[in-house]
Amino acid sequence: MQRYWGAVEYDPAAGSIRLGGVDAAVLARSYGTPLVVLNEAEIRDRCRRYRQAFAAAGAHDARVIYAGKALCTVAVCQLMAEEGLGLDVVSGGELYTALAAGFPPERIVFHGNNKTEDELRRALEAGVGRIVVDNFNELDRLSRLAAGRGEPVPVLLRVVPGVEAHTHHYIQTGKQDTKFGFDIAGGQALAAVERVLARPRLNLMGLHCHIGSQIFDLEPYRLTVQRVFAFLAEVRERTGWTAEELDLGGGLGVRYVPEDRPPDIETLVQVLVDEARAAAARHGLPQPRLMVEPGRSIVGEAGVTLYTVGSIKRLEGVRTYVAVDGGMMENPRPALYGARYTALLAAGPGSVPAGQRRPETVAVVGRACESGDVLVPETVLPEPAEGDLIALLTTGAYTYSMASHYNKFPRPAVVMLDGSRARVIVERERYHDLIRGERPLRPRARVADRPTRAGRLARRFEPGPQDA
Ligand SMILES: Cc1ncc(COP(=O)(O)O)c(C=O)c1O
Repeated sequence: MQRYWGAVEYDPAAGSIRLGGVDAAVLARSYGTPLVVLNEAEIRDRCRRYRQAFAAAGAHDARVIYAGKALCTVAVCQLMAEEGLGLDVVSGGELYTALAAGFPPERIVFHGNNKTEDELRRALEAGVGRIVVDNFNELDRLSRLAAGRGEPVPVLLRVVPGVEAHTHHYIQTGKQDTKFGFDIAGGQALAAVERVLARPRLNLMGLHCHIGSQIFDLEPYRLTVQRVFAFLAEVRERTGWTAEELDLGGGLGVRYVPEDRPPDIETLVQVLVDEARAAAARHGLPQPRLMVEPGRSIVGEAGVTLYTVGSIKRLEGVRTYVAVDGGMMENPRPALYGARYTALLAAGPGSVPAGQRRPETVAVVGRACESGDVLVPETVLPEPAEGDLIALLTTGAYTYSMASHYNKFPRPAVVMLDGSRARVIVERERYHDLIRGERPLRPRARVADRPTRAGRLARRFEPGPQDA
């Protein structure tokens, strides 16, 4: 038995895959494919590890805020609420989902580089805990909305520390070329602090920064903390203001392929707490409450997507294309930025056990009408056959949340595994979900309502054949 991260086990002889102890083939049979499977225990464990790591480092007042952009469903929001986490939302839609889930509004942090007036108004009405102000337009927009309210609105300012991290690398830049936040080096951040302090309806609680995602090297976090504290010292000198809170964003990396070696949660937290303590002491500043916003490192490894193999195209000496029943529609990451994944294969019902097949180098591709719809460009699998099951690991974050309706493929179901019990937390979309909200050119053009052959055909797709 080979063990992978995220409680995934693979038996190469039988070619069977177990997710949290549950046979992937049974899940595929019960719920269809493509299917996103989340392991509840794994998600809860990561939430607890973040919180416990802060407590162990003596930062008892620290807040862990789950970044909903990684995966935001009603059930996921409820799980985060139960685990005592906050929730970072970036749109009216994520805010709506959180509120529909009954998530405590005071634990919501509202992000975004262009929040609309309507979104800000709804956030204020809901009583969200913090609004992270990203730019001067928004600062003025929010000030106007805050004017008529009783309590001042608690805000953080998003600043750009000039450190950018991606996986194994980071770069230091003087003036950061990014659409997010107020630049420290160029003086925007100081101007923003001064402007907020001049607005009595806004209560400046602290600063926020986020330096990237899928980060493996902790050095850029250290540097970020140092730069932000140096800035806080400058701000105190110029204005007398000191921060009560410092939100250091998310970004911790996860394992997509076996070579990946991200630092663990505990190490990241210890580095942040130590560095912040040291920097506060160096500048004689009060220690602000630390906040972090992990997304990927909470749900990423806890998710697996199951696919069924359909067409196989073998080009002798060139490549073998193994097409599955999903693709860039429910996982655009490989097409968007060349993201890498680990694929495992389980033999389909009644076919040769994977252990008796020869290994074959293949490309796992999707079924969107795009040559770039390649999920795994090159991997070795036991010679795939139609009807086999392919599991793509580490697909809990930024896959379903990025899913599109390209080519009008319905989005897959999401199930949450609680021990051996699977619960559907997002239903598989049906064809009629795809045209909900679409208006015919003329009312009589609603073909499905007509007793004609075209009408009968259209009705056959409600619900679609994949719902049978
Ligand atoms: C402001 C902010 N916070 C948190 C996150 C979550 O990052 P991750 O999922 O890498 O932990 C992101 C991701 O882009 C972000 O932009």
